[in-house]
Amino acid sequence: MLDRACAQLAIHARAKCVSLLRVMRNPKKISTRSFLPIDSAFLLLVAFSCALATSAQILAQAPAPDSSAIEAKAHTMVAKLSLEQKIELLGGVDSMFTHASPAIELPRFKMSDASVGVRTWGPTTAYAGGVALAASWDPELARKIGESLGRDARSRNVNFLLGPGVNIARSPIAGRNFEYLSEDPYLNSALVVPFIEGVQSQGVIATVKHYALNDQEYNRHNASSDVDERTMREIYLPSFEAAVTKGHVDAVMNSYNLINGVHATQNEFLNLKVLKGEWGFQGILMSDWDATYDSVGAANNGLDLEMPSPRFMNAKGLLDAVKDGSLKESTIDDKLMRLFRTELRYGFVDRPQFDPADSTYSVADRAVALEGALESITLLKNGGNLLPLNPARIKTIAVIGPNAWPAVTGGGGSSEAQAFEPVSTLTGIANLLGPNVHVLYTRGLPEMNDVFRKTNWDGPIQVATYPSKDFTGTPQTAAVPSLGDFRRERRGPPENGGPRSIRYTADYTAAKAGRHLILAAYQSSGGNFKLTVDGKELPMPPHAEGLVPPFWTLDLNAGQKVSVVAECVQGNSGGTFGLGIAYEPDLISPEVNIYAAAADVVVVAAGFTPATEGEGNDRTFALPWGQDALIGAVAQANPRTIVTLTGGGGMETRPWLDKVPALLHVYYPGQEGGTAIAEVLFGKHNPEGKLPISFDRSWDENPSAAYYYPVKGADTALHVTEPGRPPVDYVVPHVKYDDGLMVGYRYWTTTGKHPLYPFGFGLSYTTFSFANLQVLATAASGSTIPVSFDVTDTGKIAGAEVAQLYVSDPSAKSTRPERELKGFEKVRLAPGETKHVTLSLDARAFSYWDDKAHKWTIDPGKFVVRVGDSSENTPLHADLTLK
Ligand code: BGC
Repeated sequence: MLDRACAQLAIHARAKCVSLLRVMRNPKKISTRSFLPIDSAFLLLVAFSCALATSAQILAQAPAPDSSAIEAKAHTMVAKLSLEQKIELLGGVDSMFTHASPAIELPRFKMSDASVGVRTWGPTTAYAGGVALAASWDPELARKIGESLGRDARSRNVNFLLGPGVNIARSPIAGRNFEYLSEDPYLNSALVVPFIEGVQSQGVIATVKHYALNDQEYNRHNASSDVDERTMREIYLPSFEAAVTKGHVDAVMNSYNLINGVHATQNEFLNLKVLKGEWGFQGILMSDWDATYDSVGAANNGLDLEMPSPRFMNAKGLLDAVKDGSLKESTIDDKLMRLFRTELRYGFVDRPQFDPADSTYSVADRAVALEGALESITLLKNGGNLLPLNPARIKTIAVIGPNAWPAVTGGGGSSEAQAFEPVSTLTGIANLLGPNVHVLYTRGLPEMNDVFRKTNWDGPIQVATYPSKDFTGTPQTAAVPSLGDFRRERRGPPENGGPRSIRYTADYTAAKAGRHLILAAYQSSGGNFKLTVDGKELPMPPHAEGLVPPFWTLDLNAGQKVSVVAECVQGNSGGTFGLGIAYEPDLISPEVNIYAAAADVVVVAAGFTPATEGEGNDRTFALPWGQDALIGAVAQANPRTIVTLTGGGGMETRPWLDKVPALLHVYYPGQEGGTAIAEVLFGKHNPEGKLPISFDRSWDENPSAAYYYPVKGADTALHVTEPGRPPVDYVVPHVKYDDGLMVGYRYWTTTGKHPLYPFGFGLSYTTFSFANLQVLATAASGSTIPVSFDVTDTGKIAGAEVAQLYVSDPSAKSTRPERELKGFEKVRLAPGETKHVTLSLDARAFSYWDDKAHKWTIDPGKFVVRVGDSSENTPLHADLTLK
């Protein structure tokens, strides 16, 4: 009865939302053009209006639970297939589909990436994903974004969403942190569960990735993450565990890397013992794209689906194994049962995935995108209370920097989504201020190719191309005026040895005395390059492969000549190379000084972009080239300078931080970022984001820095045989996670040292206080313990505070981090208002992984409970004894 009533309510509410959306689609009422200056009040109203319908929609669309009928049908489907037909279903097709099986009338099912928006199938709504979502510390927002992504996927006929990514932000330079959430497993878990529930409530399978320990981008196929079990269990696995055991995610994606010497896709410990054994995962375990390395190894160790195509799990690789008994047919049947059971349960076989009630372009989704951006932007510095700015006092504003326009919505790689009408920082500010304020804009720095093209070399660059990978043989020679346009060097023909090596030689004479920038970019998968100046090799940032342009600075005297030699060795697919030298002050465009001096206030939009932070490469800790000098020049011309930083985590701010009064981290805020940034700058929205990472001063001080790169001399060999191809030998470098549990704030609080800005930190335009902490003085281990306290807005305006609860275990028999996050709540308060918050601590909140007993353990004795607004500021604390 109750179910039927709920379903009717759901259908009714969904119909209401659909008709509301139809009204919105009516071009007479709201034209697409009029969306551009639309403000957040309207979008939030839309979000609110649809909230009832959306939650009801969840009821209407939630996949039915497993039933014996589904189980029976799945068995019948398996029984109808020959062994060859079964094996055919273990690999994907056409990059983004499962394999169809006409014998059982099973169509193929579509997939799409989705860290910020549904990718691959045209333009989409781009949300504040990954690290930005984590900065909101708002599980309900995670649910809403999950629901929106689910609807976006449905409307594009997508069955599997390839997200969320939940790897731990161990190091700020890891290239994909922006797609993941935070440095803390508890925060990740609290967000990933509602996110998954949101996606799956729309009838779309979520895929949690990349399982596991894929915490760096360089050499991601070959590197082994070597970790002890306790570190794995306490830091790197809980987000996946929560996704499976609490979020009931229906697909998991294995990562590229090896874990303790074994590739994820064939890792018995991770896949069979932990995921499918301990956590009881019943869904589909798929590989990352080309992350499989062994046919029988993968088939026997848990992999159900090889993506994007069956290079290993195919008839050549598996048939003989079934015949000789090294792979049981029942193991293959289990994989098919997982696929069929899940697909049947979602109704994929019985209904079209496209639902006409969903929009591909949705104003309601835009509202969610804006909400995400507003909740995530984190105010880190506000000297002299420069912010919020009063629009009435501003006649001229300068918006400067490479990230000011166009909008930077997300990082690079497979998550890159083409956003509908993304709002840049420049246009967001101009929209908010209206026509009576002068807005001055300059990029401030040249594009990378302009530096290459405009370099004033003394003469032509000599190019010697060798038919070998080691500069042997007779080279072909040429002379080119510059290495502009990121010169494409084709791979040599196979009969000439395939990949080639190329030496570029040139002289440069400095016209002026001072600091010069040397900029180089080399893209060649598996290739490398080195650069020497006057015979001295420049130190290469480790693993700076791909598009991330490494740069160096050099002090030269006027008239000083340097000889530059670049040696590039190609990978298998050729390469692209660019090189340039510029006098650093000349990089800053002349308008910068004029505009900054003429403006009442300046916003410098700096940081990373998809070209400098993305999949497949790690990034620098330093800001991309020229940006430190740009910020310094602006701050010198106008002390009222506000810096916004785009990026997946911490970055170098020391060269200019004490010269600028205000700093905001905007992460990658999605398509509504510009509107949100403007609303925060001008106080239409009180900032509420909190750092989901510890923000270091330098890369060296990050606790992973000493352990991030592979241990020299610890390489091992790996022999891979892909069916039908000659065997290939790989070198496996070993990255030893000797930082152990001391990731991020765990390190800072345990050592008593302080990062630049601590995990959990973020300023507001109002103030808050915490009081009246209540915890039981003694309790039985294993019981759930309530912790309550009051949070008050002590300022003059409304705001949101994230109350954070940390637990310390000073009497533990084993060494533990000084404190660990075990609860939090975002509290919205009117000025003067107090809210009473109650959080509860379960057994896991007090436990650590006992490496000897191989289980979660609580050492009875003293614990300390702390509450505050960051990992370092916890004004409330109380002791608790567990018996
Ligand atoms: C990425 C995955 C992604 C897949 C499909 C891979 O390169 O690592 O995260 O889901 O491509 O696009």
